[in-house]
Amino acid sequence: MALLELQNVHTFYGNIHALKGISLAVNEGEIVTLIGSNGAGKSTTLRTISGLLSPRQGQVLLNGRRIDTMPSHEIVKLGVSQSPEGRRIFPRLTVLENLEMGAYIHSRRDPQYQADLERVLDLFPRLRERVAQKGGTLSGGEQQMLAIGRALMSRPHVLLLDEPSMGLAPILVDQIFSIVQDINKQGTTILLVEQNALMALGIAHRGYVLQTGQIVLSDSAKRLSENETVQKAYLGLD
Ligand SMILES: Nc1ncnc2c1ncn2[C@@H]1O[C@H](COP(=O)(O)OP(=O)(O)OP(=O)(O)O)[C@@H](O)[C@H]1O
Ligand SMILES: [Mg+2]
Repeated sequence: MALLELQNVHTFYGNIHALKGISLAVNEGEIVTLIGSNGAGKSTTLRTISGLLSPRQGQVLLNGRRIDTMPSHEIVKLGVSQSPEGRRIFPRLTVLENLEMGAYIHSRRDPQYQADLERVLDLFPRLRERVAQKGGTLSGGEQQMLAIGRALMSRPHVLLLDEPSMGLAPILVDQIFSIVQDINKQGTTILLVEQNALMALGIAHRGYVLQTGQIVLSDSAKRLSENETVQKAYLGLD
């Protein structure tokens, strides 16, 4: 059984039919990437999984259990955590306070809390140097790290990452991708949305290609990166 599964999911914004029957599966331990042009429905898929949007039809299953009827805080408690597009951190809170907010489902007295914090600060030494700094004064790349770090503080089984490399300098992009791989190796299953499809396919096990709210291709990351249509449309190769 897949860890996370979407079955024929339809999601709307008012009358706008954004997801038109998405079915996909993410297995324990995998990095799965969602590829697609602007407006294809990638963020909508992640928001539907994390409960920020409710599908009008279809089901979202975690370990075989329906979660699409649950409020988003319950879904976080079950181990699904999202790092949203556009680094939505709390600008007036310090780095440490931002990370604490991510751990809100666990008590700070939880013996694991300190270990979680250490793990995040080990992954992102730049954040360790800046624990007392206000989130809003971090550079763009540092805010991105904070958003990912905050998502990790809930100790997720499944991490949903929406464009973690957006707006970052190439050297930081490399760093973020290698950190995503580390997080995966430490046991977290990852669903990754990325504009940088080439790099996403480089670290993913499998991928799905989304086009106007529908999945048009799914394969191993290797085969997708060799696929001519994918190369032309999403990898900037021809
Ligand atoms: N809040 C909203 N209200 C109305 N329509 C929306 C809303 N959010 C997204 N949409 C529409 O839903 C569709 C899918 O959007 P989504 O944000 O999921 O795309 P995306 O694949 O994440 O694109 P991008 O690569 O630009 O982030 C688009 O047509 C978009 O205009
Ligand atoms: Mg998006």
